[in-house]
Amino acid sequence: MSTEYTYEMYVEAANYIKEKIGGEAEIGIILGSGLGNLSKMFENTIEIPYIEIPNFLVSTVAGHAGKFIFGTLNGRRVLCMSGRFHSYEGYSFEILSLPVRVFKLVGIRALVVTNAAGGVNLDYRPGDIMLITDHICFSGTSPMRGPNMEQFGLRFFDVSRMYSPELLEIARKVSKNYRLRFHEGIYFWMSGPNFETPAEIRAIRAMGGDVVGMSTVTEALTAAHCSLPVLGISVVTNMAAGILQQPLSHTEVMDTATVIETQFTAFVAELLTTI
Ligand code: HPA
Repeated sequence: MSTEYTYEMYVEAANYIKEKIGGEAEIGIILGSGLGNLSKMFENTIEIPYIEIPNFLVSTVAGHAGKFIFGTLNGRRVLCMSGRFHSYEGYSFEILSLPVRVFKLVGIRALVVTNAAGGVNLDYRPGDIMLITDHICFSGTSPMRGPNMEQFGLRFFDVSRMYSPELLEIARKVSKNYRLRFHEGIYFWMSGPNFETPAEIRAIRAMGGDVVGMSTVTEALTAAHCSLPVLGISVVTNMAAGILQQPLSHTEVMDTATVIETQFTAFVAELLTTI
């Protein structure tokens, strides 16, 4: 539980990173499944495995490397999380607030969050990109549950502009330079690790979800609490359950991510140097 975390523990983790990278970072990015090649474009790279960082968590999923990768992109100081933490690994929503609070204390002014997601909207196809305009999370809890940490934000906080309209506008402009199919829509959170049932997917569509995924929302909510603008980007790696006559698999997710990786990475890299 985050209630076991004191403010000083977040500061200690952030200070460790700042010492390693020689100061603050400007932009933070969290990379989703199979989308980890971005850091190959960095210069002056410094890797910091999570396991070295005081009070940090360790990721358990194949395809998630479990380290911060710092570097410069066109001179901009970018701190990348390669490997993220999910509720399905057994972490509480409260503890999932940790990485974003550490990002905040490392000094970033914007957070880009990418993920692999299932396409619920029938106009979407595997390989499409969706800029997240909002999310739906019916988990019944929040990463900010528990005593409020005033150093980060208010007890009751607004999330109506959580996915920054300004960052969305920049992403919209940059997207024009890429041969990928872009959409804007709603990310619907599900706990996993099982993929959804076809009936759940029909319900999610009726409720307004365009894609479904198992990450991102705790990060976006934590960022909103500490007034950190977020840009959320989903890669549609598969059509959600019941749409096509085939079972879903993590292999399909990783294969689609690989197909679009070069274009997607170039898009994200341009974004990081534009925002
Ligand atoms: N459902 C949930 N999470 C996902 C999916 C999906 O279909 N694809 C990639 N992540």
